[in-house]
Amino acid sequence: MLRLTRILVILSVVAATGQVASVDPPGGPLEGITAGEFELFRLGLEDFSSVETAEDGLGPAFNAAGCSACHNIPAVGGFGTITEVRAGRRDEEGRFIPFEGGTLFHLFSLPPHTCQARIPPEANVIARRISIPLFGAGLVEAIPDESLLALEDPEDRNQDGIRGRAARIHDVATDRPRIGRFGWKAQQATLLAFGADAYRNEMGITNDLFREEVALGVDPEKLRLCDPASDPEDLRDPVTGLRGIDKFEVFLKFLAPPPRGPIDAAARRGEQVFAEIGCASCHIPELRTAPSSNPAFDRKPVRLFSDLLLHDIGTGDEIEQAAASGEEIRTPALWGLRFRRPFLHDGSAPTPEAAIRRHDREAARGRERFLALPVPEREALLAFLRSL
Ligand code: HEC
Ligand code: HEC
Repeated sequence: MLRLTRILVILSVVAATGQVASVDPPGGPLEGITAGEFELFRLGLEDFSSVETAEDGLGPAFNAAGCSACHNIPAVGGFGTITEVRAGRRDEEGRFIPFEGGTLFHLFSLPPHTCQARIPPEANVIARRISIPLFGAGLVEAIPDESLLALEDPEDRNQDGIRGRAARIHDVATDRPRIGRFGWKAQQATLLAFGADAYRNEMGITNDLFREEVALGVDPEKLRLCDPASDPEDLRDPVTGLRGIDKFEVFLKFLAPPPRGPIDAAARRGEQVFAEIGCASCHIPELRTAPSSNPAFDRKPVRLFSDLLLHDIGTGDEIEQAAASGEEIRTPALWGLRFRRPFLHDGSAPTPEAAIRRHDREAARGRERFLALPVPEREALLAFLRSL
């Protein structure tokens, strides 16, 4: 009850000032969750932060021994410094042909060397991807598919040069068609599916949704010898009844969005410039969650600065994945930008300004208008990005 009163006080302050200028560090639980949900968040955080071993099913091919190895800056759930490798092949006609087993090539193996994934010499597409911070992921999951469908404009009917496309995917968690929103290619729609995919793909821990090990370029017989554990390796905890993938889901679902930084006059002006020059056409300031019986998710504003659609802004990695073509990348959310570095899916931009300068094709007009800005306005735009 005390907690509820505190929340009501905060809400009335927000209502009075129209602004939240929280200085809390990121990584905490979503405001307004129940004690039971907080307990789930805590259990999930524990699993997400733990380091797994071969006995837990780690490997044979893997990228890191725990989720938080790649999602720990500036707090557990954030981004990381490890870069993943994807590869494939393009034939003479330019068609993308993945190798059998997919496009992800693992960095490490257990036992070392024997089952190490190898990029075949025929590979002529090699891409790198940095991780994505997960703060606020539960709110993103709760945005209805219809909102994303309403934003797409694949034929460019309004002739603004921008053609967003909703990622029509099959969600393995619910076995239903959905609109993807997670991952650089918007390849997953739900946190259960993404976490299960990550558990198998990043850590080699097979689970109910992804039951087979992958190690590209490793012969299946050898793979069996490297990994005697029977699949799925992710089992239910006898005490809580939860699988590892359930715990990742609840941790991410109840993880709060990053708090907005201080907003000064320059940042306020910068936000206007951001809208005026068309950045907000893709980096949509606010979406809203669907109606929900859970008050923490009921029609909540989600100030993420993304349309969660696929666009070709000339930075594509040539990898075709789920609904995305080689050229397309999902608009990244810009909330929490001040905590991150580097930028773009491959980490190739050291600063926000360098990332903006790389915008082309669908975003060429936005970039031109950014470059044409008088210096004070350009500075204001960058101050706004630093306040996110
Ligand atoms: C080796 C580094 C690494 C590990 C370990 C890792 N991740 Fe990630 N994570 C990434 C990268 C890279 C991406 C972007 C992947 C992409 O789109 O191809 C990502 C993206 C995500 C996303 C999508 C976020 C969004 O908003 O789009 C979720 C959810 C996620 N990871 C959850 C997990 C969970 C749960 C675990 C542990 C089971 C985990 N990750 C382990 C590197 C990692
Ligand atoms: C046509 C849609 C579109 C428009 C218009 C657009 N962006 Fe982007 N933006 C994207 C996409 C897609 C990416 C990711 C590209 C990648 O990672 O390869 C991106 C990435 C970024 C990033 C890096 C974020 C990160 O997490 O790596 C910043 C900063 C950014 N945009 C700012 C802007 C600004 C400022 C403008 C206006 C001048 C703008 N964008 C206009 C689609 C757009």
